[in-house]
Amino acid sequence: MSSSTGTTGTTTVITNIATLVTNDPSLGDTSPLGLVRDAAVVIEGDRVVWTGESSKAPATDNRVDAGGRAVLPGFVDSHSHLVFAGDRTEEFNARMSGRGYTAGGIRTTVAATRAATDEELEANLTRFLSEALRQGTTTFETKSGYGLTVADEARALRLAAAHTDEVTYLGAHIVSPDYADDPAGYVALVTGEMLDACAPHARWIDVFCEKGAFDGDQARAILTAGRAKGLHPRIHANQLSYGPGVQLAVELDAASADHCTHLTDADVDALASGDTVATLLPGAEFSTRAEWPNARRLLDAGVTVALSTDCNPGSSFTSSVPFCIALAVRDMRMTPDEAVWSATAGGAAALRRTDVGRVTPGAYADLTLLDAPSHVHLAYRPGVPLVSGVWRRGVRVV
Ligand code: NIG
Ligand code: FE
Repeated sequence: MSSSTGTTGTTTVITNIATLVTNDPSLGDTSPLGLVRDAAVVIEGDRVVWTGESSKAPATDNRVDAGGRAVLPGFVDSHSHLVFAGDRTEEFNARMSGRGYTAGGIRTTVAATRAATDEELEANLTRFLSEALRQGTTTFETKSGYGLTVADEARALRLAAAHTDEVTYLGAHIVSPDYADDPAGYVALVTGEMLDACAPHARWIDVFCEKGAFDGDQARAILTAGRAKGLHPRIHANQLSYGPGVQLAVELDAASADHCTHLTDADVDALASGDTVATLLPGAEFSTRAEWPNARRLLDAGVTVALSTDCNPGSSFTSSVPFCIALAVRDMRMTPDEAVWSATAGGAAALRRTDVGRVTPGAYADLTLLDAPSHVHLAYRPGVPLVSGVWRRGVRVV
């Protein structure tokens, strides 16, 4: 079978799909999920080349019977922190006994990460990636931010870049403990020598704009310096308190403002007026017992919402997008359709990608097969390992 994408290779049809989520209304029903019932997908090489009703599927080399189950785009986890060592069980335990979450716990992970060998960091990263893949994540972003020296930040990015193109320089996670008395000196390092060492390994630059981390002026200086080196901004904004991060994100055309837990009307208006995606991370609210972001307010204002894990050892130690979908539906009052869209097409939008997060001709053949007849089961059956097949770049990996 030939295709307009220029891909070559074996063709495979996945047929007998009870519900196919394409995320393209022109290919299915008119909902944003573009649902096709009794569907088939044809893969050629690493790409999708055809979707439609099973009965109309073209002939192919191979055939896979989905057995009346659901297929959706592989999840796009656009926010994680996977390069670290150590764990913070005691901090979590204390929180569940009433203590609050602060940015200060990051220092614990910085110390453990600096002390770790490359091999230890790589082994952790590989383990979390394999967890995520088994739960349907086929594209992920990950960050530095637990090194906070030139060498340790560059090392984290180099290790991450071996696994994903979506690598984010987060030297501005907190002020390094080495600069506790000289935050301006640390900002100079982050925007100078550290940026020079890190920029070649990263696509994005991020800053934790929050009390106890970096204020609006520092965040602006850091993101602007990154942009001058070819990195595109994204921001940890308005997680623990109201602040300037969200509006700064929109002003700088950041791809994404992440967390968005404490928003003023002006913040929501700003997000609705720009191209910055609001990335919600309900694993963080779950694991810090914090109030939920108001997803309905954002969606009703027309803001593009992504849903991601924020997987990290401090505030959200889950690699499971299905868990985040269930939380988003139950506790953030997103509909199952909205949550599935946000964890696939929304994540792609937060990474400014159109080749993932959808099952459409020309997109990468990144697919998740559920042991369920529809995507709604991801919220309806929380905690159940429903992912029973994963294709990444056209190759079945689960
Ligand atoms: O996204 N908010 C800042 N960074 C992480 C938490 C990091 C940590 O506690 O180790 C987050 O929640
Ligand atoms: Fe984060």
